Amino acid sequence: MIFYFSGTGNSRWVAKQLAEAFSEELVPVADACVSGRMFSIGPDEKVGFVFPVYSWGPPSVVLKLLASVAFSRVPSYLYFVCTCGDDTGKTAEIFCKAVRRRGWECRAGFSVFMPNTYVCLPAFDIDWSDVAEAKCSQAVDRMAEIIPLIQRRVRRMDCFAGKFPAIKSYVIRPLFNRFWASPKRFHAEDACISCGKCVQVCPLHNIRLLDGKPVWGENCTMCLACYHHCPKHAVAYGKYTRGKGQYTFREDR
Ligand SMILES: Cc1cc2nc3c(=O)[nH]c(=O)nc-3n(C[C@H](O)[C@H](O)[C@H](O)COP(=O)(O)O)c2cc1C
Ligand code: SF4
Ligand code: SF4
Repeated sequence: MIFYFSGTGNSRWVAKQLAEAFSEELVPVADACVSGRMFSIGPDEKVGFVFPVYSWGPPSVVLKLLASVAFSRVPSYLYFVCTCGDDTGKTAEIFCKAVRRRGWECRAGFSVFMPNTYVCLPAFDIDWSDVAEAKCSQAVDRMAEIIPLIQRRVRRMDCFAGKFPAIKSYVIRPLFNRFWASPKRFHAEDACISCGKCVQVCPLHNIRLLDGKPVWGENCTMCLACYHHCPKHAVAYGKYTRGKGQYTFREDR
């Protein structure tokens, strides 16, 4: 069983690679969070979590699922694969601690570099197309490396933490989440054609159309699916996304 969360498709692609290789079921994290259902797992069944790194940690929705998900037995091999644009900070430690709080153990964790999607601060933008392409083709090799390791149920943490991981994850991340990551800054600009795509792609069903214009609620994990999928580039985050690019993983590559 593989739980996955993805805003712009990178992590969904990773999750699909794993599901195909292991012939396992894919469960969207956002759906699992609301279902409150008990997941039945076999004695030797692997349980995987796939997600993007958001501000040097797992997305809030992944941590929420970890705190509440119910399994029919203690998972014998629980692992994660995270995707990141640059570095993971202490994502592995944060994830493993959340797993331990449930009395389980995280046996393995891996990171995969993929194109950047964060655009909500000055100087942060998507990657140039050649960099994005290179990351996607290197991700194919990385998955070929990771899949047999998970299949063999190795115990390993292999994430690219980058420089100053503790400062990033334990100082900047809480400040970022508290003071910056708020859906209140989202709005639609005049180019909006009321197509409803942003409503459709939000994995947390946090957007509705009011008089033809999107309105954002409070239940947001900052995945930026609404921003990146808008066909008119009309979703804005304050003034910080002005002139920034859009990116979604191309399934046909
Ligand atoms: C809110 C937000 C925060 C991010 N923070 C980080 C980060 O701390 N480190 C990093 O390397 N990439 C960061 N990224 C980039 C994503 O982790 C990366 O692009 C990921 O592959 C996106 O996956 P997805 O397409 O499945 O949503 C961030 C992206 C977003 C939207
Ligand atoms: S996706 Fe863009 S154009 Fe469509 S409703 Fe949302 S903001 Fe408007
Ligand atoms: S409102 Fe936008 S950023 Fe927030 S969860 Fe929905 S799609 Fe993601």
